[in-house]
Amino acid sequence: MLTAGRSEAAPVPTDPFLSTVDEITAWFASSPEKVDAALSGSERERVLSRVAGINDAAAAGDRQALYAQQFLLDRVYRLHTKLPEQESAEGSVVVHEIGRMLETATSQAQDALVEPGLLDELPSEPRRYLSWLKQTARNHRVYKHPYYHEFIRNDATENDLRNYVMQESVVDGRFDDLLAMMQVGTAGAAKLEIASNFWDEMGNGDPAEVHTHLFNKIFEVFEIPEEELERSLSATSLLNGNLAVLLARYRALYGESVGFLGMTEWMAPDRFVQVVHAWERLGLPDVGITYHRLHITIDSQHAQGWFHNVVLPAAESPAMRRAIARGVLWRLNSSAAYLDERMPSAAA
Ligand SMILES: [Fe+2]
Ligand SMILES: [Fe+2]
Repeated sequence: MLTAGRSEAAPVPTDPFLSTVDEITAWFASSPEKVDAALSGSERERVLSRVAGINDAAAAGDRQALYAQQFLLDRVYRLHTKLPEQESAEGSVVVHEIGRMLETATSQAQDALVEPGLLDELPSEPRRYLSWLKQTARNHRVYKHPYYHEFIRNDATENDLRNYVMQESVVDGRFDDLLAMMQVGTAGAAKLEIASNFWDEMGNGDPAEVHTHLFNKIFEVFEIPEEELERSLSATSLLNGNLAVLLARYRALYGESVGFLGMTEWMAPDRFVQVVHAWERLGLPDVGITYHRLHITIDSQHAQGWFHNVVLPAAESPAMRRAIARGVLWRLNSSAAYLDERMPSAAA
């Protein structure tokens, strides 16, 4: 088990990638001015070249480098998505440079997984385009992946489900914030659809029904402390969470975000049927499964609303068709990599 995010008392990591991560994240509780003054000139060059080294190794297939890359990007994103309790390096120029290097490398890795030419052959008529997106998902190995349809459904133990919800927290645990971020700058039917989806996330105004609140109930059932959660996230779950934030926070990636989040909603109901089945098979407390039961119905409605009110109108534009399909493919590929990794045979 890798140890970035370890407590003060833990030994210094011998992994050079994680040493770099620790050195950089140690600055994140300082003011931007302080960080930028300390990491200037040759110090800045040194740190940026270490980040480049992580990116190069990750691109060459080094798993520890991938973990360090995604862990560090997750830490950068925390500066932008969580309210700070102390000083924050959010506004630092050098932290922004580091974040951009990580984002660029992460984007290139996802684009490299897309079949060459695929995005040049998309149907131009919006309804045919939407059918193409769905058919591409149905033909992808992620669709009805054995992780859900065999392992979770039939074999997962209580501990497996506990681990499962930790890994899922990177997207489900902040879906409302992702919607809020991607909504900026939209108008008309798309903005209304995102707003109504967001209001569902808010439990339609009932605090007890807020989706992140319901999701956190599972953490109470399994008694998962925050520091265990931080330690346990794998490289591919961090990647899935990071991709969702990356696409939601840049206006230039709005189309990709539409594809990524739409496909997330569309695939959820069938997956959650398997989770509910496992939960009932194991006789776990009912309070912990409300979130998944609810989403079997609500996410099929969300997906339909999303396709009709966000994707179809946007699909009049060639650039948007390309962007949405790119986001869909990123979601299919990154979700498949994550599920492959979670299969018990992969862990053996
Ligand atoms: Fe939800
Ligand atoms: Fe949803």
